Amino acid sequence: CYLAFTGPVVVAPAMNTRMWEHPATRANIAALVARGVHVVPPGEGLLADGDVGTGRLAETEDIMAAITARLTGQAGPWAGRRVLVTAGGTREPIDAVRYVGNRSSGRMGMAVAEAARDRGAEVTVIAANVDRPRRADIAYRDVATAAELLAETTDAFATTDLLVMTAAVADYRPATVLDRKLDKSAVDRLDLTLEPTIDILATLATHRRHQVVVGFAAEHGGEGLDRARQKRARKHLDVIVYNDVAVAGIGFESDENALTIIGPGESELTVPRSSKARCAEHILDAVAPLLPVV
Ligand code: CTP
Repeated sequence: CYLAFTGPVVVAPAMNTRMWEHPATRANIAALVARGVHVVPPGEGLLADGDVGTGRLAETEDIMAAITARLTGQAGPWAGRRVLVTAGGTREPIDAVRYVGNRSSGRMGMAVAEAARDRGAEVTVIAANVDRPRRADIAYRDVATAAELLAETTDAFATTDLLVMTAAVADYRPATVLDRKLDKSAVDRLDLTLEPTIDILATLATHRRHQVVVGFAAEHGGEGLDRARQKRARKHLDVIVYNDVAVAGIGFESDENALTIIGPGESELTVPRSSKARCAEHILDAVAPLLPVV
């Protein structure tokens, strides 16, 4: 039985105990489980060949319980996984009221968080200036600047299984910040000196232990795909999700996106223009094989 978004449930057929315990059967079952398949094992009792042992087709109630657990996220590769998602865009203050920001709305990150939660994961979102509906079954931590995003993400990373870094982080911030509102009449011209921020994703990916790390690459124009591939290698990421910000109507401030998911390994998947919810499902599907089997 294949359950959309949660993966297959396979029911072991009726057999005898020797078949169930045979090394070839054990190895094949282990391979299925490693790929995220939920295997309903055979039951015990009187078998067709007259023996008593393990090999009866599972009872209907046990099969239904396995499917229900999978559908409700209580079983499967995502159950209990700790997923950390950064969403939105940072704002770097110039003075008490002005900032340097970007157009990220947080929709893509919120969609990834909701899809992971629906699969049974424990999800935390570090939200940088996100004005979107929130769910009671997801934890949110609000931040404004790249420095705050760095602090919160680093804090949560140690206990995370998967980091999905959708946030648009400022690469530069004003080197000095006025603690009051700048008076326009006092200056003819305003020169801002910007200093680089820390690359959160590259820093965490370099120092990770078991965590799976996914980054985003919003690139402009035709060469973008290649730049995204290079960015994945440079930042030591398992997967990078590329989108072309030059295409109108998708990406920033839109409910739709079009992606290329680069990785894991050599794989690349092109997702044509789709809802961000659908894009999120594709991203989680791509990442699922990387989650260690529990
Ligand atoms: N990112 C980050 N910390 C930063 C900047 C970016 O963690 N200070 C993350 C973003 O969340 C995203 C990925 O890095 O997942 C790609 O960000 P991008 O700004 O496109 O990459 P850069 O390394 O800044 O490369 P570029 O020179 O193309 O801007």
